Amino acid sequence: MKNNSNIIAMVGKGGVGKTALSASLGRALIMKKQKPLLIDADPAQGLTYLMGLEPDHKTIGLVRDEIIEKARSRGKDAKEEIAAMFDYLVTEALIEKGEFSFLAMGRSQSKGCFCPLNNLLRQAIESLSRNFPYVLIDAEAGIEQINREVVRSVSHLIILIDLSLRSIAVAEQIQETIKRLWIDCRLGVVANRSAGDARQIQTSLESRGIELWGIIPEDPVLRGNDLQGKTIFDLPANSAMLMAAQKIAEKIS
Ligand SMILES: Nc1ncnc2c1ncn2[C@@H]1O[C@H](COP(=O)(O)OP(=O)(O)OP(=O)(O)O)[C@@H](O)[C@H]1O
Ligand SMILES: [Mg+2]
Repeated sequence: MKNNSNIIAMVGKGGVGKTALSASLGRALIMKKQKPLLIDADPAQGLTYLMGLEPDHKTIGLVRDEIIEKARSRGKDAKEEIAAMFDYLVTEALIEKGEFSFLAMGRSQSKGCFCPLNNLLRQAIESLSRNFPYVLIDAEAGIEQINREVVRSVSHLIILIDLSLRSIAVAEQIQETIKRLWIDCRLGVVANRSAGDARQIQTSLESRGIELWGIIPEDPVLRGNDLQGKTIFDLPANSAMLMAAQKIAEKIS
């Protein structure tokens, strides 16, 4: 069930800038005194590091392990008890940092199919998003999470492209999947690291019926930041990436 929060997921092919934009939109919203919830839905946990956090906190993957463990030890009759436990366990996985909140998907150790990880993540997004005006989701590369349940609760889907044919093809595939699954969300493209002609990108996207929500130039400060393992909070507010993220945040809110 959808609510009034802006639930914004970053998707697109590998390495196109999903994590960098998730963190930058997070910082742009923090600068506007909006307390966002950031969700690291990539098991590699790149967003966790970029937000200055360590990946040693409870994740949705660990919540799943605990639920499976409880279900195994108490039997099927414990279903209601387990459902009640879910909200509590998710709250335990939530990191509160004052200016923002954070949740990581992580990995699950348990086999078994009591509740697939993406399904659990969707439930967590739906229950937590009621408390946040903005939820930002850094998805895994590709269209895997589009096919799964996660994006059902999303209000905005940002497809990142890098102007390679492959990334535009992935954008088209994502658009088709959204239509096929009747997912009711706004969808737009952000062109990252593009030195190209904005009109040309726009025309090419418009012919496919896709909106262009923003263009992010190559940002040497962000690249340097990343090479030194710094966080998004070390990036100067006037860096190209953060300026572009502020514009994108305005466009979609
Ligand atoms: N506009 C930009 N200018 C300079 N460097 C950038 C820019 N956007 C992203 N990068 C850098 O490119 C690399 C890949 O970006 P990022 O990790 O955000 O991509 P991703 O889509 O999350 O990748 P993955 O699919 O592996 O999760 C990172 O080192 C990031 O700092
Ligand atoms: Mg990433």
